[in-house]
Amino acid sequence: MINMINKTIEEWYTSEKVTEISTLIGNTGYGKTYLAQKIQEIYCVNKWPFAVIDKMGIHYTIRTEFDEVIIIGGEYGDVEIEDLDSALHVILDKGYNYILDLSELDDPDAQELVTEYFNYMFEWHKMTRKPRNYMIEECDVFIGQGGGMLKVKNMISKCITKGRMNGFGFTLLSQRFRMIDKTPLGQTRNYIIFNMKLTNDLALLKNLVGEDISAQVRRLKEGRCIIMTDEGHTSYRVGTKLGKDAAETPQVGKILQDIKIKPLNQKIKDALELG
Ligand SMILES: Nc1ncnc2c1ncn2[C@@H]1O[C@H](COP(=O)(O)OP(=O)(O)OP(=O)(O)O)[C@@H](O)[C@H]1O
Ligand SMILES: [Mg+2]
Repeated sequence: MINMINKTIEEWYTSEKVTEISTLIGNTGYGKTYLAQKIQEIYCVNKWPFAVIDKMGIHYTIRTEFDEVIIIGGEYGDVEIEDLDSALHVILDKGYNYILDLSELDDPDAQELVTEYFNYMFEWHKMTRKPRNYMIEECDVFIGQGGGMLKVKNMISKCITKGRMNGFGFTLLSQRFRMIDKTPLGQTRNYIIFNMKLTNDLALLKNLVGEDISAQVRRLKEGRCIIMTDEGHTSYRVGTKLGKDAAETPQVGKILQDIKIKPLNQKIKDALELG
């Protein structure tokens, strides 16, 4: 039986999760991105290291509340994507958190950049063994099933399968199990399940859990999830995050809020020599 007591994400998300593999799965609009942003806030509050690989260009919103997260690339970038290399030296040296906004690149260019990026990170982690969690929004763009992205998939799979003892942790987001390649997916320790309805996915879920929880999963409301770990599965409430929301669903008769972000923290600006 699922424990239906309303636990909150804060109760579950302890520092060990930084170097674990967690996968967020569920139908569109039920709160994967929202939870990912809530988790980023937990990292900011606790001063744990993270990076977001953001092909959608929606995670800059962490800066509506936290001025210490650097945005690289995209419309709100503090640093241009072309200057990633030089910025990364300072960022890794100081242990800053950052969003890698790839929204202005097409898929092949983003895949190429992410391949080189994780190649670099793999060597860096091997050398330093420092912990950091890498959150990959819509991860099927990089580790999806099927061909066309073999290089990037192999590189990220290498970081996932061989990286744990060097400090790698991952948070993967996707709508369906079947959209993610089996190698990285199979390394998942924590499955965070939002509402899903497709029989295929529910059958796969049944395989993973060893028991049929389809009825509960079909009924999960927005902002509710079931977390499956080695200890079993428990129902959680995501709760509200502090920051504003760029992935909000537009509603008829409701004006989408205009999002203003904070200027980057001055000390970090100075360290990055950003004037
Ligand atoms: N915990 C929550 N509290 C309040 N609102 C929420 C919560 N979770 C989701 N929402 C609302 O639902 C909207 C959609 O959620 P979100 O963008 O996280 O969906 P998603 O699962 O990432 O969907 P997609 O697969 O399309 O990216 C959010 O913008 C927010 O308005
Ligand atoms: Mg989303």
